[in-house]
Amino acid sequence: MNPFELKPKAVEDGIMDWATVYPTPYCKMTVDPYTKLRVILMNGIEVEAVMFKHQFHRHSQNEDIRREVALSRRVEQQQQKIINWLKPIDETQLETTIGYEHVAVDLTAWLAQNEPDTYVKQALDYALLEDFDHLYRYSNLLDLDTQIPAQNLVKSYVDITPGRPTIAEHRHPFDSVRYSVDFKKADVRTMLNTLIITAGEQQTMNFYMNIGNTYLNDMGRKLYQEIAMIEEQHVTHYGSLLDPKCTWLESMLLHEYVESYLYYSFSQDETDTSIKALWNMFFEQEVAHLHRAVEMLQKYEGKEWQQVIPTGEFPTLLHFHDTKDYVRQILGSQIMLTPKKEEYVNINTLPVNYDYFWYQDRVNHDTCNVASHKVVADHQQQYQVDYRAESKQNPVPELTDRQTDNTDIARKQTAGVSGS
Ligand SMILES: [Fe+2]
Ligand SMILES: [Fe+2]
Ligand SMILES: [Fe+2]
Repeated sequence: MNPFELKPKAVEDGIMDWATVYPTPYCKMTVDPYTKLRVILMNGIEVEAVMFKHQFHRHSQNEDIRREVALSRRVEQQQQKIINWLKPIDETQLETTIGYEHVAVDLTAWLAQNEPDTYVKQALDYALLEDFDHLYRYSNLLDLDTQIPAQNLVKSYVDITPGRPTIAEHRHPFDSVRYSVDFKKADVRTMLNTLIITAGEQQTMNFYMNIGNTYLNDMGRKLYQEIAMIEEQHVTHYGSLLDPKCTWLESMLLHEYVESYLYYSFSQDETDTSIKALWNMFFEQEVAHLHRAVEMLQKYEGKEWQQVIPTGEFPTLLHFHDTKDYVRQILGSQIMLTPKKEEYVNINTLPVNYDYFWYQDRVNHDTCNVASHKVVADHQQQYQVDYRAESKQNPVPELTDRQTDNTDIARKQTAGVSGS
């Protein structure tokens, strides 16, 4: 599929009435977890589309450009409203949160498996283990507060077990900044992957920073605060990979291309017929945006779209599938990795006075007051074990004890521990 070769509709055709903008939500009891994942991801992609276009118009002095951007931004807003309102009334914020972390795991793993650039793949594998742990922490909160096993929500699609423990994830800000990718030389998959994951993590950050304070008790409010701070690190981590040399118009072209690619991918896989119809409709709208972005790039910068996206042909379509074995393999081999500025090293090789340890001491000196640990410790106190749902035992021996939460691994330096 090459969206540049399609005949586009007018951008104005994307403006919808209120009946269309208010969709019938999915049923939380029967929805396929992957449908939920697609909904959560596309909401994040549309939020990025909207915010990107707000920033663009604030940085442009050209009224014609600002009007064009306002027009397609209105459509992006309507798309976002439809998608985000697919969440049913009876799905709680914590149930939605389990979906957010499930997306983070299965999306990141898929992208890592389809990423040709080794530096970008390492970035994905590294953060994968952190979101994987968030899923486990929130699942313990869900079981503690509502006695709902998170496995009922994610089915058997993903394991729920400790990853790189959240307490170990808190790092000095300097260690979240990576080298940027040169999009002029990058494979199209790398451009798509970095833009997709940045938008996804940004939405997770926004979601937690906005709704974390509405949770029903202090334990949960603290857990949202803590994990929201990790999402800030993840947005910095992935956002720093994007090519800062892209012009606003080149970047707009890439944004529309990402949206077209994802709607087309998801229209192929979607099992819910009314949501599939949405993905098809939005694909057509994005093709219209894409062609308008092509015209603007030509008119204002004298560039052809091929200078940004060489062939235009979609690479392998994004297709959610079981990534449990892959995640287990990465966890078993990379739990000890930590960034040292732009590179990744085994934590045991860091100098003892490194920034990481200073930051850890500032924020985590009182381990009992770290919510991600406390929620599991509380569960263990009440039920003797933590909450998990594993298809196989955790690959890290230090993380197999269900009665004691390990707050040392990947955080404190030790000799002769497992992992690389
Ligand atoms: Fe959009
Ligand atoms: Fe994340
Ligand atoms: Fe768009």
